[in-house]
Amino acid sequence: MRYLTYLFLFIVFFSISCEGDSKTKDQAKKSADAQTSQQASDVETMLLIPMMRLLLSDMYKVNDGIYTENYKRIEQGARSIADHPAMTEIDKNLVKFALGKEIKRFVKFDMVVHHQADSMAKAAQQNKMNEVLRHYNIVQRGCVDCHSNYRTKIIEIRKMQDEKQQ
Ligand code: HEC
Repeated sequence: MRYLTYLFLFIVFFSISCEGDSKTKDQAKKSADAQTSQQASDVETMLLIPMMRLLLSDMYKVNDGIYTENYKRIEQGARSIADHPAMTEIDKNLVKFALGKEIKRFVKFDMVVHHQADSMAKAAQQNKMNEVLRHYNIVQRGCVDCHSNYRTKIIEIRKMQDEKQQ
């Protein structure tokens, strides 16, 4: 009799631990799936601040290319600016919240940077320094216009959100 009780308890215990095990496996699989899809979306999206840092290093690269007449470098830097990744959903929502309807102008500044950097890359391909400089100036103006209009506001809202989360 005692033996049967032990056997029963063993079976109950065993089945519970199996269930727990399959649950953790399930959770592990789910988080692995989430990670893969996160990685897949990371290809085209990037957090705003690291993206801005990347744009700055691309501008340095272009500048370097201009002063050393290295058209390949100009083209690479300009191409990277033109094809810069989109914002992550989190940053998009933050910008929308911070700017409301003004977001249209924000997007326009971004478009100016994209298009003019694309033209700059094409001008570099054709070794046309004057054209490179013309587009470079418009790109730079686009960066600065967006900053002087919206940067402070977005930094403020980001701070408020960070404080709320703490
Ligand atoms: C459409 C708007 C927009 C355009 C265009 C834009 N930026 Fe920015 N940039 C921002 C905003 C908003 C911030 C502030 C982000 C924050 O701190 O949350 C920022 C911040 C930065 C920073 C500071 C990052 C830090 O470490 O705090 C740098 C550097 C920068 N931008 C470089 C550039 C360069 C270079 C270009 C052009 C090639 C550019 N940006 C174009 C909106 C823009």
